[in-house]
Amino acid sequence: MKHLIIAIDGPAAAGKGTLARQLAETLELPYLDTGLLYRAVARRVLNAGGNPEIDGPEHAQQLLPEDLHRDDLRVPEVDRAASLVARDAEVRSALLERQRIFGRARGAVVDGRDIGTVVFPDAHAKFFITASPEVRAQRRYEQRHGSACADSNALAKEIAALNARDEQDASRATAPLRPAEDAVKIVTDHLDAASVLAKVCQILQERGLIRI
Ligand code: DC
Repeated sequence: MKHLIIAIDGPAAAGKGTLARQLAETLELPYLDTGLLYRAVARRVLNAGGNPEIDGPEHAQQLLPEDLHRDDLRVPEVDRAASLVARDAEVRSALLERQRIFGRARGAVVDGRDIGTVVFPDAHAKFFITASPEVRAQRRYEQRHGSACADSNALAKEIAALNARDEQDASRATAPLRPAEDAVKIVTDHLDAASVLAKVCQILQERGLIRI
């Protein structure tokens, strides 16, 4: 049980981060948010005045632990730049081994886009968490502003930004966003975080992977 690896993939703002964090806490496993690695590379590129479509590899090689603890990684300019650096095969391969080393050390709950397909194809369990663009946009807005969005123009803008990023993440040549064939797909439109967690724990229990 100590070296259990659980892969959680899905598009932006589908609820995978919340699920992964809560699951890791419940199972007492380390948690790895792999999106943060791409965000940290993007932040370095932007801060150096570089081009996210070109300069990702050198910054991915030089990434330091403290780069992951900045408080300006979840802002719209980094959303866009992270999706651009993540298209680069060299960036992805520079980050791949870090993710594997982290997961193999003590097991982990790992969330991202290519965890079940590329990073840990042999994960003990794989989940693909998704929701409609409207629901995801509303959640993203609430995360950033602390309240529900009543302005239909602002929501439309958020939906467009999410769709653009998903399209970019799903259409890239290397490790595109897609469910692994053996992933359990969960649509979270009508599920709150506690229900998603309960569902995942039930599946893990039925498979004999955990005892709660
Ligand atoms: O999960 P997130 O929104 O923090 O991810 C930021 C960007 O990083 C997103 O556009 C896709 C990319 N990403 C990726 O390509 N592969 C991963 N395993 C995780 C994130």
